[in-house]
Amino acid sequence: MEDLTPNPKDLDPIETASRDEIEALQFHRMKRSLKHAYENSPFYRKRFIEQDVHPEELKSLKDIAKFPFTTKQDLRDTYPFGMFAVPQSKLVRIHGSSGTTGKPTVVGYTAADIDHWANLIARSIRAAGGRPGDMLHNAYGYGLFTGGLGAHYGAERLGCTVIPISGGMTERQVTLMHDFKPQIIMVTPSYMLSILDEFRRQGLDPRASSLKVGIFGAEPWTNAMRQEIEEAFDMHAVDIYGLSEVMGPGVAQECVETKDGLHIWEDHFYPEIIDPVTGEVLPDGELGELVFTTLTKEGLPMVRYRTRDLTRLLPGTARSMRRMEKITGRSDDMIILRGVNVFPTQIEEQILKCKGLAPHFQIELTRSGRMDNMTVHVECTADLSAEDARAFSAKELAHHIKSVVGVTTRVLVCDPRGVPRSEGKAKRVVDNRPKE
Ligand code: DLL
Repeated sequence: MEDLTPNPKDLDPIETASRDEIEALQFHRMKRSLKHAYENSPFYRKRFIEQDVHPEELKSLKDIAKFPFTTKQDLRDTYPFGMFAVPQSKLVRIHGSSGTTGKPTVVGYTAADIDHWANLIARSIRAAGGRPGDMLHNAYGYGLFTGGLGAHYGAERLGCTVIPISGGMTERQVTLMHDFKPQIIMVTPSYMLSILDEFRRQGLDPRASSLKVGIFGAEPWTNAMRQEIEEAFDMHAVDIYGLSEVMGPGVAQECVETKDGLHIWEDHFYPEIIDPVTGEVLPDGELGELVFTTLTKEGLPMVRYRTRDLTRLLPGTARSMRRMEKITGRSDDMIILRGVNVFPTQIEEQILKCKGLAPHFQIELTRSGRMDNMTVHVECTADLSAEDARAFSAKELAHHIKSVVGVTTRVLVCDPRGVPRSEGKAKRVVDNRPKE
């Protein structure tokens, strides 16, 4: 794989600034942002008054812990525009994330917000190894989802040639990649696997493709999956993180030269890790729930937004800004099976250890009597059709899951394409337990 380390002189100066400089900027921006939220968002004003706290009380960054948390429920309760801190006429764009209840969580951006976002995505693509002039195949979905348009504006900002293909029509995706020869792809890791299958179906060698780097995010994926994709395409695979409530993609990005977790763009977002049960702030290095305070957002400032994502904060390496460890999962996705906590990423890791299995999988939860049961539906590789070979793989996976994750599962190995494919975020858990 080609060395894609960016030239240090192309980085934004703040990426390599001292911690003191970063913290001074954060403090200045945090003060301004809290004041803006208090003065312009009736929601925040009420919340701060209820908590008996005023923006003036922020004397250091750590004082943010005095302020109340914000949750997804707050966005639902104020649907659609109740949390915004500017009049609707000042918003240039609305996005949303699909809700389980049918109504999306709505977020809004001013022109300045969109401008910052484009800059941060440009910075992220550069950290991933992209350069002005590269062609970028953008297979994140366009629409209310922040992935497509978020990546698009930033790629243009960096000076890339963008192919706004969006998700779906996999056959055409591969044809265009073969014909246009992009260096960069931005897509969810699960959809990248569908693209890989399609390369093989069309008789194309993925290792001979023009791709040099894939920027994968919007869902959890493991280092084992990184290795699988890097080997299959002979390209770099790096992680991008973000969430619509805080901005969209580009809140944190992994650097191609280190691939050791994601640098949080701390000049725009202040991270904390909290104990998800008590809400207490945990020191750097400890695993807990990631919380963000936005430092520059105008349309929808976020104060201590609880992401539900579980990770830990680590010191900077390739950049001075702190890193977050690759996300193991969301607290919402955690399955508690007979007392053991299980994340879909742990199952993914074990599947990738089994030679005869492809990493397309879904976890089904059922109940018999009072017992919860977990079945892993997973595809065999194309060359593993014999019944006894499948039975062997099923046993092998069940054994790995039992010995590493600690739970007994049923494994059903199905034909290639037997597991529903995602064109965006994969649905890893199907809960068929009776509703209580
Ligand atoms: O998924 C934004 C995005 C688009 C990020 C494209 C990266 C690339 P939402 O739909 O609001 O926004 O979903 C946010 O997705 O809280 C995480 O649980 C999960 N997520 C996003 N990136 C990652 C990642 C977009 N790299 C939610 N690793 C977040 C693990 C991720 N989970």
